[in-house]
Amino acid sequence: MKKIGILTSGGDAPGMNAAIRAVVRKAIYHGMEVYGVRSGYQGLMEGAIEKMELGSVGDIIHRGGTILQSARSDEFKTEEGQEKAIEQLKKFGIDGLIVIGGDGSFRGAQKLTEKGYPCIGVPGTIDNDIYGTDFTIGFDTALNTIIEAIDKIRDTATSHERTYIIEVMGRDAGDLALWAGLADGAESIIIPEKPDEFHEVTERVIRGHERGKKHSIIVVAEGVGSGFEFGKKIEKETNLETRVSVLGYIQRGGSPTASDRVLASRLGAHAVDLLLQGISGKMVGIHHNQLVNHDISTILSRKHHIDEDMYQLSKELSI
Ligand code: F6P
Repeated sequence: MKKIGILTSGGDAPGMNAAIRAVVRKAIYHGMEVYGVRSGYQGLMEGAIEKMELGSVGDIIHRGGTILQSARSDEFKTEEGQEKAIEQLKKFGIDGLIVIGGDGSFRGAQKLTEKGYPCIGVPGTIDNDIYGTDFTIGFDTALNTIIEAIDKIRDTATSHERTYIIEVMGRDAGDLALWAGLADGAESIIIPEKPDEFHEVTERVIRGHERGKKHSIIVVAEGVGSGFEFGKKIEKETNLETRVSVLGYIQRGGSPTASDRVLASRLGAHAVDLLLQGISGKMVGIHHNQLVNHDISTILSRKHHIDEDMYQLSKELSI
């Protein structure tokens, strides 16, 4: 393997740049050439491909977003789209591709692998919703952004003795909400994995109020529904002044934490190692702080689960 390509796909996540840097530098260290693909699979089909040098990834380790830019492409989901992409890869003489993204991006990588094109996936998404890795690149940074926001909202919540509903990202997964809720001492955490526990939420708010608590913080993952709807329902059932704050895209940007930079560097470099060993169709991950890899087909057929003990603990600490 002499020439490899790299792309970022799906939602951007802080730390993606650190992963790109690791791939480029590690590959060049081993005497390979690296080609950067712009705007994910869309750019791949269009041949938006450029050679990267050591300097192409200078001064990016601390930056959020992705210097390669990202996109979600419907055309690439078709046979024709995938053939177009392979044509471009052949045209540039690229022997293997590293895809940084979430499960949608890995579906694409799996398709290319099935067509005989070697791909390795690197998990990059703030949602932490991928099977086969304890953490995804971007999760820690997003979590810290959420904590900073909730700490500020808490000041207003106390001053005005209100209930605050904080809606955080996480389309199908509750990790951001669960970790943020635990880290911020939230009264309740409402996540897609536990959709039926709403009655407990109102009971807890009322109990807290009766005990003289000055405010309540409730963290809702976007995957369970609108924070505003929850806000209305909670205000109606508790008869306490309630406000809603949807954190939105602020969670996706910003300089990656040290933890995300280190994770991204390790995973990016490991992806290159696998290609060098002639391995493909795998996603790299981290488990108990050790590098691991799994077949992408396995990753796609299994679901990431929340840590049940953590969920239970969050309840025990917010009685
Ligand atoms: O998967 C990451 C994520 O930020 C989700 O939490 C969110 O639902 C989604 O992406 C939003 O995607 P888009 O950028 O397409 O609006």
